[in-house]
This record gives sequence, structure tokens and C-alpha cells, in this order.
Amino acid sequence: MNGVPRHVAIIMDGNGRWAVGRGRPRLAGHRAGARTLERVLDWCGEAGIEILTVYAFSTENWTRPKSEVAGLMKLLGAFLRDKRGKLLREHVRFRVIGRREDLAPSLVRSIEALESETASFSRQLVVALSYGGRAEIVAAARKFAKLDVQTEESFASCLYAPDLPDPDLVIRTSGEFRISNFLLWQCAYSEFYVTDVLWPDFDRIEFDRALASYARRDRRMGGVK
Ligand code: FPP
Repeated sequence: MNGVPRHVAIIMDGNGRWAVGRGRPRLAGHRAGARTLERVLDWCGEAGIEILTVYAFSTENWTRPKSEVAGLMKLLGAFLRDKRGKLLREHVRFRVIGRREDLAPSLVRSIEALESETASFSRQLVVALSYGGRAEIVAAARKFAKLDVQTEESFASCLYAPDLPDPDLVIRTSGEFRISNFLLWQCAYSEFYVTDVLWPDFDRIEFDRALASYARRDRRMGGVK
């Protein structure tokens, strides 16, 4: 039996379908998804999970309709404003991984302010924003090329957040069995849990099921027992 995962990463999928199924605009689904994220952060704290990484916006998501992209960016800005107090009170370190150069300067300023205010906390919420696993690997490769010592460890030290341990468990909602360019390097030995539940409907029962499923996995990391 494994214990509680130290690092859980989530592909929060299904916001659009949740909204369309209710005859509502897709952004209503993203707003409901942001509320789910807040609940999941609480459950992670209660379960003793140290790091939660969520896929909020991929490098490919820029191709969505302008209004959806603008709405998502606004939602992220509001999340930073509204949750600042909670993160400080609950000692949660906030970090963003991804291509910051794609983001509006005002959003980057808010991100960096919250990152520095929370930098000393050990529990972490990591938001992947304008994030792509391939883009991260290409950026890392550029740095790696200049290193004298070229090993797997020194390559990992060139990633966006090199101090983070690899995710133990990756959860994907809404039933799709794919990785969608998320943490490609870091997921090499992660356990996966896929549920049909759409992200806005992801509840405590489903969260506990994911942890119970992880606990039963036989993690050999390529070795034998
Ligand atoms: C995928 O669902 C979800 C996204 C592209 C955005 C995720 C964003 C949030 C949950 C809210 C904002 C996050 C923060 C940190 C405030 P989809 O739109 O691809 O759903 P679909 O596959 O049903 O269309």
C-alpha cells in the first residue's frame, strides 16, 4: 500500500461540456471549475497532500475563441485577487509554471507578487498557465546545452520548477485517456486516475476514490519487488 501522495497533479477537463449540458456559456463551466479547484485545495490540505499542480491553460488553449481566452484570463486574475487571503492564512505557496512571456504584464505582476508573498510556505499550489510539456522541454534543452555536466538530473534542473518532486498521482476528469502535453518529463513514473466525472462535478467522493486507487497501486518504478 502506498501512503498519501506527496504531489497530485490534475487535468481539470470537462468545464465546457458541463456548461453546454446546462445550456449555459462555456465560461460558466470555467467559473464552476474555479470553485471546484478551491474545494480540492482544501481536501488536499485535509489529506496531507503537500503539492497540488493544476493544468489551467495550455499553450494550445490560445487557439480557443478570443472571448473564451479573455474570460479565462479574467478568471485567473480574479482567482489571484480573491484567494490571496486564503493562501496566506493557510500557508500555501502559490506558483505558476508556463510561458509567462505569453501573459499580460498586469497578470504577470499579480502572479509574481503572490509568488513572493507566499514563497516561504511548504504546502504548494502550482498553476500551469500557458503551459506545454514540449515547450518546457525545449526551454530546458536550451539551458541544458550550456551545462558542462549533462545528465538526467541536470536536465531536470533546467525545468520550470526544478525543486518540485515528480507528481505521484495524475488525475484527469471527464473520461479522456490522454496526457495533453501536461508535465511530459515529470510524469515518467506517475500513477494515473481517470474519472468520467466532469471537473465542475468533481467531489469529495471522487477525490477519495482517486486516493484509494493510488494507495492500491504497486509502484515498482521499473524495478522488481
Ligand atoms: C478544460 O475544460 C479546462 C480548461 C481549459 C480550463 C481550466 C480552468 C479552470 C478550471 C478554472 C480556472 C483556473 C484557475 C486556476 C482559476 P474544457 O474547456 O476543455 O472542457 P470541454 O473538454 O468539456 O470542452
